[in-house]
Amino acid sequence: MMRRPFIAGNWKMNKTVAEAVELAESLCEALGDVTEMDIAVCTPATDLYAVSQALEGSNIGVGAQNMYWEDKGAFTGETSPVMVKELAEYVIIGHSERREYFGETDETVNLKIKSALAHGLKPIVCIGESLEQNKAGETVSFVKSQIEGAFAGLSEEDARRLVLAYEPIWAIGTGLTATPEQANDIIREAIRDVLKELYNEETAEAIRIQYGGSAKPGNIADLIVMPEIDGALVGGASLKADAFSEMIKNAVAALK
Ligand code: PGA
Repeated sequence: MMRRPFIAGNWKMNKTVAEAVELAESLCEALGDVTEMDIAVCTPATDLYAVSQALEGSNIGVGAQNMYWEDKGAFTGETSPVMVKELAEYVIIGHSERREYFGETDETVNLKIKSALAHGLKPIVCIGESLEQNKAGETVSFVKSQIEGAFAGLSEEDARRLVLAYEPIWAIGTGLTATPEQANDIIREAIRDVLKELYNEETAEAIRIQYGGSAKPGNIADLIVMPEIDGALVGGASLKADAFSEMIKNAVAALK
């Protein structure tokens, strides 16, 4: 089964509107002729409008970094799926920073996934273990439980519309990267095997799984050639046009 590679930038809480537009325009220029993979940038909510305008008609998709699950109402400070859908194609759900600092749980992640899918958004769902869990040998059981939580109640058809991002928390923003082999093994054992149990082999093989955690121009080639790794969710290295473009080009070259 051929899964189309997908590299997405996660700008986190960076970029004013002016900075965001400048970055989006530079990426458009540098990456306009890339046809071999899907590319997206996930921006702060305040940048979505301007960036979606700047990237309109381009090969670079736009994503939000979070959303609430209700359509509208008295939820001060939240962004609804209806609002996101006007401006974006993707939405990151359950990033480890949201789980750690903003109280997101497997249950809220599941509610958000269902809501995003119901509104035609493509969720990029993040999972991954902490350093303590990794050291204690709990990685597989923990990631399995996150997958079961995320997919609870999802039909096979809905499940196939998700993108997963396996992001070991100890590798995020730290410069430490899981070795491509480590990441590949976890994705196979803790993610595809569970998806096979929950659905079937075909569905498990159809779902795209990105790696995340200090992915950069210098290591993307080794990551993306691994059979289970279908791309990357990129924080730090997505904030500069030259680094992110170089990364995409290195990935394309590695897959040739
Ligand atoms: P990083 O972040 O590439 O800066 O490690 C990845 C992420 O948190 O999605």
